[in-house]
Amino acid sequence: MTESDEEQEFMSNLFTDESYVPKTFHFGAQTITVLRLEASSTDFDLTGQIVWPGAQLMGAYLSTRAEMFKGKTALELGSGVGLTGLLCARFCPVVMTDHNETVLKVMRRNVAFQTEVAKEAAIHEVDCMQLEWGNRDHLNAILARHPGGFDYILGADICYQQASVPLLFRTVRQLLDVRIGANFILAYVSRIKGTDELVKATVLDNNMRATEAPGTRQKLANGTLEGWVYVISSN
Ligand SMILES: C[S@@+](CC[C@H](N)C(=O)[O-])C[C@H]1O[C@@H](n2cnc3c(N)ncnc32)[C@H](O)[C@@H]1O
Repeated sequence: MTESDEEQEFMSNLFTDESYVPKTFHFGAQTITVLRLEASSTDFDLTGQIVWPGAQLMGAYLSTRAEMFKGKTALELGSGVGLTGLLCARFCPVVMTDHNETVLKVMRRNVAFQTEVAKEAAIHEVDCMQLEWGNRDHLNAILARHPGGFDYILGADICYQQASVPLLFRTVRQLLDVRIGANFILAYVSRIKGTDELVKATVLDNNMRATEAPGTRQKLANGTLEGWVYVISSN
């Protein structure tokens, strides 16, 4: 590490809020507690320190589908603190990912919190790895450890920034290409009409199809938002 890297790390540690507190979530028969910030940091890149409405949507979906994950494997994109990945890990092994180092740190803390402190349920193997959407080197490092790919790719509330949608779906496409029959389960939260359209167009551009999972559409964030689950697969 160079002196300037060290200085940058020192400054970022100095100004990064890492005062995580536990919060318990209930999804059907599943109860899960994770550490997270109560309010979002002002740094746009630290969106992953809080739990987003899409994770609520995904929790409701996963908790009623444990059977679907029996004997399967999953990778989560943009895991944030890891609520979705850790819930899924009750049903199958999971690789949780994010691009942000600070977010990866709290994600790892939550893996330890689950196994050593909360102990609410047994979990399968969980790995936390860096994956920036569109970054082939990051993806290759993950696939080197998991050459057969994954049956399920998960994403909760990860389409909130239009500029990253094409890169996100490029990575999804690459992951679906590794395992024939794999599906991308996307807990989608609608905020801007343009993003709704961009997501649909990007799915088609990548030769995939998206189906809204019946019964998943719901109001979120005290009725201010609407979301649903897409099941996305290769054409
Ligand atoms: C809105 S948060 C959702 C976090 C979590 N899935 C949830 O529902 O609570 C989006 C997450 O995606 C991550 N992210 C954003 N852009 C990314 C990118 N280009 N590559 C990888 N991860 C990214 C963020 O760091 C953050 O953790």
